Amino acid sequence: MENFVFHNPTKVIFGKNTIKHIGNETKQYGNNVLLVYGKGSIRENGVYQQVISSLTESGLNIVEHPDVSSNPVLSHVRRGIQLVKKNNCQVVCAVGGGSVIDEAKAICAGSVVDFDVWKFFIGKKSIKKVLPLTCVLTLAASGSEMNSGMVITNEEKKLKFGFGNKRLHPKTSILDPEATYSVPADYTAFGAVDAISHVLEFYFTTQLPATPIQDRFIEGLVINIMECCTQLMKDPANYRLRAELMWCSTLALNGLSAAGLGKVGFPMHMIEHSLSALYEVAHGAGLAVVMPGWLKFYKKSNPERVKQFGQRVFGYHGKKGPITEDETIELFIDWLKQVGCPTILNELAVPEQDIPRIARNATSLAKIWRLDQYDQATIETILHLCC
Ligand code: NZQ
Ligand code: ZN
Repeated sequence: MENFVFHNPTKVIFGKNTIKHIGNETKQYGNNVLLVYGKGSIRENGVYQQVISSLTESGLNIVEHPDVSSNPVLSHVRRGIQLVKKNNCQVVCAVGGGSVIDEAKAICAGSVVDFDVWKFFIGKKSIKKVLPLTCVLTLAASGSEMNSGMVITNEEKKLKFGFGNKRLHPKTSILDPEATYSVPADYTAFGAVDAISHVLEFYFTTQLPATPIQDRFIEGLVINIMECCTQLMKDPANYRLRAELMWCSTLALNGLSAAGLGKVGFPMHMIEHSLSALYEVAHGAGLAVVMPGWLKFYKKSNPERVKQFGQRVFGYHGKKGPITEDETIELFIDWLKQVGCPTILNELAVPEQDIPRIARNATSLAKIWRLDQYDQATIETILHLCC
């Protein structure tokens, strides 16, 4: 176990009927709040009304910043920053999935500086202070509700970059599983895949020889996420399943699963971000294609690690006898298909001849994330394994 510091300052209020607390939790930070949300799902599922009444009852002046797109873009972040400065907002409230929360984090960081917020994403500036952020989560996936990360696409340069700073942690996040009943089957599955990929990035990139605590924690999260997601395909308004999937997704990327693993990487995300930046692919759908391809590349040098994962996750799911590394990958692909995910590039309408262009795009993030072994040729090899 390597040395680590685990400090997660986000207060989580979890469960049924908890959205009503958002006003109180936000009011502590100011009178003018920028309310950030997406394209309209919260108006259809009733979350918007609950949030507005709670914020209003707490006496907050609300400035709305709707229309965040999935895979949020820099131009919309900049408009949110202008709104904060023009209306002297002291706090930001994000109501949505990872895209909304990430855009809100970028607005919190960009509103207190006089240079362009993109400078944070390319390592030109570091974050010294941010506006406080409160959240109401409506989609179990990214873990952004309880972490210090954010991912934004510079649509001009076609670059989707992630950036983390401990000040970006939301002050409070409300996790009401009933807010996710309206998530359609595809985004339920994409969210589950995203959460699984977060822990598998750590599971497979740690350099340590023995990590029994994290292994079993991660394997347990994956087993639960897969079970919940499979059953939610048939039973989308099941509270217990929505609650467990939501909490597993948050636990997957709130710092706990990687604690003590030492240096880990995010190679699958590094490649997937290029698919989302270049082809507007849903993040989880991109990962459903990249993960199997990356595992086929990784297993050549680490067969035992893949076998252990297969034995413990698919063995738990009833598969009898020893499970090879190839069977593990096939069983994972079978599950991805079972929950309706794409598993090869052309199911994302991404032509194979674009692989060099995608790899070129991904190398810029590989450099920023110091994933030195992922050069153009290696990324192309992995992408060919996704076909
Ligand atoms: O825009 P609306 O109308 O809200 O519709 C959204 C969107 O179309 C819809 N949706 C959300 N909640 C819903 C709902 N539809 C019905 N009922 C609800 N309750 O779902 C669609 C996808 O939403 P989005 O926020 O894009 O999905 P997700 O939560 O998966 O977030 C994806 C973003 O998170 C980033 C990704 O890069 C991507 O941009 N990530 C952030 C991370 C972090 N901060 O740590 C790490 C992750 O790896 C990930 O990269
Ligand atoms: Zn992700």
